[in-house]
Amino acid sequence: MGAKVKKAVFPVGGMGTRFLPATKALPKEMLPVVDKPLIQYAVEEAFAAGIEEFIFVTGRGKSAIEDHFDHSFELERMLQDRGKAEMIEVATSMMPRAGSIAYTRQMEPQGLGHAVWCARHLVGDEPFAVLLADDLILSKTACLKQMVEAQSRMGGNMIAVMDVPAEHTNRYGILSPGFAHDNLVEVKGLVEKPKPEDAPSNKAVIGRYILQPEVFELLEKQEPGAGNEIQLTDSLAAMIGGQPFFGLTFEGERFDCGDKLGFLQATIAYALARDDMGEGLRDYLRELTPTL
Ligand code: UTP
Repeated sequence: MGAKVKKAVFPVGGMGTRFLPATKALPKEMLPVVDKPLIQYAVEEAFAAGIEEFIFVTGRGKSAIEDHFDHSFELERMLQDRGKAEMIEVATSMMPRAGSIAYTRQMEPQGLGHAVWCARHLVGDEPFAVLLADDLILSKTACLKQMVEAQSRMGGNMIAVMDVPAEHTNRYGILSPGFAHDNLVEVKGLVEKPKPEDAPSNKAVIGRYILQPEVFELLEKQEPGAGNEIQLTDSLAAMIGGQPFFGLTFEGERFDCGDKLGFLQATIAYALARDDMGEGLRDYLRELTPTL
């Protein structure tokens, strides 16, 4: 039912203040979980969902992200000369095809809604995905792939949702649920970071969205909201009713890697899942456990 989603927007213009001092000179999205930067996980997830065009909304101090998705001729030559040709594949296999990656600058970090709006000309008049790299999702099927499949059936807008503890609603966009069927829930309302006593539910919006291009018209006029930032949630709320709008309770575990504890938990979960280090880490954790 929905038109094919071919483009993905990666807003990477945030300041990453929760991760200072690491993020003083290093983009938050370049922090590695085990051995891959967060942004690479997000790009690989988009690939897995059939995305063909990759749009980054960057900001000052984010040029390492552009370099990461480009050749490094010195590195590749050095690996070749030292007989480590197999590492060249490791360093280059995740690069999108030349010409399928585009960058625009947010200029001022005025909020996620403003970052998405900055991608309007690159997206044009078609549905698109948004992935926040600091929400890392460990799953059997890529989270965005689950969403693309659901959205192709339902049409309209689709957001990833997760139940959160009631006392944490003030960290998320929270939805008012309508009818629910299987893992889909109708979105009847959305509110950004409500206090627990004001929250319409404990269903939180996670950093994966499939949106219709009409959102750009709303973002164009969007006044600053919570935190004095231009909130994507506020423009999404204004689209409810006009188009199908569903939340998908995805299969997988989500980690908030913009937060230090969440990042550590992700590192442990991803390392435990790895064949080359899972056992070693498990032994180490067992040794530690009696002392905790
Ligand atoms: P966060 O709420 O995590 O903000 O943004 P932040 O600035 O990155 O980090 P903290 O809270 O200061 O530690 C959620 C997502 O929106 C992007 C971020 O890069 C992140 O992926 N974002 C946020 C922008 O691209 N531009 C903005 O102006 C704000």
